Amino acid sequence: MTVSLAVIIFICASISGSKVCALSMQHSITSEHIPQILYPCNNTIEALAGSKLEITCKVLAELHTTVEILVYWLANHSYIEDYSNSSRVTEIRIERRETEGSYIEVKLSFSEVRKKDFEINFVCVVLSEEMDQERFVFIKPAVSNVASHIVVAVAVLVSVILVSKYTYKFLKSKHPLSYEILK
Ligand SMILES: *[C@@H]1O[C@H](CO)[C@@H](O)[C@H](O)[C@H]1NC(C)=O
Ligand SMILES: *[C@@H]1O[C@H](CO)[C@@H](O)[C@H](O)[C@H]1NC(C)=O
Repeated sequence: MTVSLAVIIFICASISGSKVCALSMQHSITSEHIPQILYPCNNTIEALAGSKLEITCKVLAELHTTVEILVYWLANHSYIEDYSNSSRVTEIRIERRETEGSYIEVKLSFSEVRKKDFEINFVCVVLSEEMDQERFVFIKPAVSNVASHIVVAVAVLVSVILVSKYTYKFLKSKHPLSYEILK
């Protein structure tokens, strides 16, 4: 069960593409390094042409200072509005306040990934009074979905078997005869 759950969580995490950069989390973030881009981390993610995709630029800021921080995406040095003149690629800004700090998240949302996106350097830019930062992410075509489909199928199968096993045990334990035995 744990294994199949772990597999499912791993798949979800890789699909969502919004995980935090492990590298930057290793260093403790001091206030002099704020604002700090937590994701992306100059990496490459996989996507299928024709599928939906969201890439979240996650920035850690100090509490109450998010107003002065500008966060936006560039596609090969062009603004997103210019890159996709339709609404195929859009940016959505969200601010979240938590006890440890404020987060600014700017989602780059693709209603449909196209082949031309695979040649673009998508850069998240953070401009504040203290500093300017940027991190890029490339999208590459997902090589083969066969392997991940097999993993999903196995995970589902294992879960189904386990669930039916427990259901069977549960039903059996409700049965008066076996109830007596169990006692
Ligand atoms: C974006 O830049 C890359 C090189 O960095 C180039 O290969 C690609 O053709 C460019 N794409 C567009 C649409 O300008
Ligand atoms: C990511 O790339 C940018 C240039 O696009 C560079 O300025 C920055 O230092 C890089 N960051 C890391 C963590 O590699």
